[in-house]
Amino acid sequence: MLLCSTLACAQTTPIKVGLMLPATGTYANLGEMIENGFKLYVAEQGGKLAGRDIQYFKVDDESDPAKATDNVNKLIKRDQVDVLVGTVHSGVALAMAKAARESNTLLIVPNAGADAITGAMCAKNVFRTSFTNWQPAYAMGVVAAKNGHKKAMTITWNYAAGNESAKGFVDGFEKGGGKVTQNLTLAFPNVEFQALLTEIAAQKPDAVYAFFAGGGAVKFVKDYAAAGLNKTIPLYGPGFLTDGTIDAQGAAAQGLTTTLHYADNLNTPRDNAFRLNFAKTYKTNADVYAVQGYDAAQLLESGLKAAGGDIKNRDKVIAGMASSQVDSPRGKFTLSAAHNPVQDIYLRQVKGNINEMKGIAIKALADPAKGCKM
Ligand code: PHB
Repeated sequence: MLLCSTLACAQTTPIKVGLMLPATGTYANLGEMIENGFKLYVAEQGGKLAGRDIQYFKVDDESDPAKATDNVNKLIKRDQVDVLVGTVHSGVALAMAKAARESNTLLIVPNAGADAITGAMCAKNVFRTSFTNWQPAYAMGVVAAKNGHKKAMTITWNYAAGNESAKGFVDGFEKGGGKVTQNLTLAFPNVEFQALLTEIAAQKPDAVYAFFAGGGAVKFVKDYAAAGLNKTIPLYGPGFLTDGTIDAQGAAAQGLTTTLHYADNLNTPRDNAFRLNFAKTYKTNADVYAVQGYDAAQLLESGLKAAGGDIKNRDKVIAGMASSQVDSPRGKFTLSAAHNPVQDIYLRQVKGNINEMKGIAIKALADPAKGCKM
């Protein structure tokens, strides 16, 4: 016996959201913040998006690119999710974007910055609520050059995010007249920084730019200070270097200057309300990862609203998402034609236990989206 017509069924079954995030490893905390942010927005809408119940399916991707294709296929093929949300690590996200393209599954990336996801690999069904690795890095390069530094070194993990972040810094810094003399790397997620710090001390650049995040960022910032380098060579980075990590970094992080699309004291009614509810719900302060997860849920809602709640009405969902202005705690943003946020990049400095906003480094910065053809 038929219990409902096809359309009515479509409107009453829950939307299946596949969360593919790290629950273990150096990025575990980042994954948890993204999930909490996503769920907070859904909870604020009474547990529904555009009137539809949400059902979660979860996979721990361990930030391991080697397992990424198998992991994403658990959500696409086994669980048959309507939308994928993930992930943190660029290498894993590149595999997700490929699988999403091949299976035509809707994908929202709530962190990983791999430039190609909204560049050469861009696709109608792939969206991002975070950044490209180039965006905050380029802004940091521009600021470091403006601060009068001439010679810089970069240090990072040797994978897409680290390398693209270093490249973004080079673009901004060299445009402003600086020169990057060397890019130091180590394998992800290693944290044996000593030999590289010794190299920095020997070369004495005017400034260092570092991309690390999560547990690795905590160790790097502490090691940099323990080596005494923070007294002689200013350390810069994209805000991931100090976001969600300040409490663990303590004194070693004080005064560090970074650039990011979020800061802890934006002090707008929108951000204050978000931070208050996040802190009440999860007993911890929100950070950029929580914001990006929250905005992934908002973006999905815009698509669903445009399609009258029918996630299967793909063209309308995509059109709704692509044209939405997301009322983010970071400040309102729109998406570029490649589906990446066009957003202000803030200049921040660590003071006490917050990343204090010092100004806007670059307004409405769009990624160049090299090679994107939809
Ligand atoms: C990335 O792999 O793209 C990545 C990971 C952690 C961050 C930022 C970017 O904080």
